[in-house]
Amino acid sequence: MVKRPSIGDEELRDLVDGPDQLRPPAPEWCDTLTNWRASVDRVLDPPDLADCAPLGTEVSPDDPRFVFHGSMRPVETPAIKTARLVVKRQLYANAKRTSGRLGVIIQGPSGTGKTSLMRYVGRDLEVRLNNRYGRNDDRIPVVALSVPDKGRGGTRNWSGAFARFLGLEGSLGSDPTDSICYVMRHCHTQLVLIDGIHRLQHGADVKQTFAYLEHISDETGATFVYCGRNSRAIVDPYLRDSETPRDKNEDPWGDHPVLMTSRLGYDQEGKDRFRRIVNEFDKDLRLYHHHAGDLTGLSPVLHVRSKGYLRALSQLICQAAQHAMLSGEERISEELLDTLTVGRVINI
Ligand SMILES: Nc1ncnc2c1ncn2[C@@H]1O[C@H](COP(=O)(O)OP(=O)(O)OP(=O)(O)O)[C@@H](O)[C@H]1O
Ligand SMILES: [Mg+2]
Repeated sequence: MVKRPSIGDEELRDLVDGPDQLRPPAPEWCDTLTNWRASVDRVLDPPDLADCAPLGTEVSPDDPRFVFHGSMRPVETPAIKTARLVVKRQLYANAKRTSGRLGVIIQGPSGTGKTSLMRYVGRDLEVRLNNRYGRNDDRIPVVALSVPDKGRGGTRNWSGAFARFLGLEGSLGSDPTDSICYVMRHCHTQLVLIDGIHRLQHGADVKQTFAYLEHISDETGATFVYCGRNSRAIVDPYLRDSETPRDKNEDPWGDHPVLMTSRLGYDQEGKDRFRRIVNEFDKDLRLYHHHAGDLTGLSPVLHVRSKGYLRALSQLICQAAQHAMLSGEERISEELLDTLTVGRVINI
């Protein structure tokens, strides 16, 4: 029988502070199975204005509407739609294979939504399985990890990272990897998400990492997603044939699909996509004087300010929404965006 995972952050806070106790907002981690499941179960829908403190009430930092606008929920970008499809197809193709599986690589510059996209895809799989087969605590379809830090001796404790996520710390026998594979296989782990691939250093570090990950994949049948800046150049050499000499002009890359995120450029296609993304944010705003389309109308201004990066866009919209609530303006205007410090130098 699989050991129940250790307690999640939310449960821990409930125990320490008391359940439903008012407390400062904290990040919603998904670094352990309990936290991951809580993130899968979390209702992400924007609050209903009818349930919120009425217009004119002073807004406190722990007001649920204020907290919601601090980060808002992920919006389904065209990149997310494509990634979902690519990963889904790969999972179907890998499902019955005991060998010969392909993983997926996600790469792109900082702030272009790689981590968000990877989590979205993992959550999507888990929600689909819950809907189709019913909830089952003995199923662990997704393992979500970040590349662990280098320990003493310069090696990374990969078995520790897997054990920590699975809540198996302290209950591993003499062969931790064996226990990890046992749990993952018997709990039908299908997807292993690994973020922070850019932290791996070329040479022994990547080699040691892939020796371990390949073993886990072989023993569990899980499909791996590798995510990080420039991750293809880091992982691909370990996933492809390095023995056969290449033909002249043959590209060196292997067969893993690569999802490449980027900022949204200023060409017409980039502008159109950007506008559609802003429109998704627009639909989620819950400000008393907001009218549908107001934010979308500011898309050209937001594009210039964010330079097409999702991180900057999210910060601009969320900060504007929170300012609008605090000031009582309750709508986002161009003037309000102009007061925000994102990407600005402030001479003091
Ligand atoms: N689909 C999305 N919907 C809403 N916000 C998003 C979306 N994707 C990204 N963001 C916003 O952009 C921020 C940065 O995204 P993310 O952390 O995924 O970037 P990244 O490419 O992984 O960056 P890094 O390389 O620095 O890790 C997120 O915290 C979120 O606020
Ligand atoms: Mg990231």
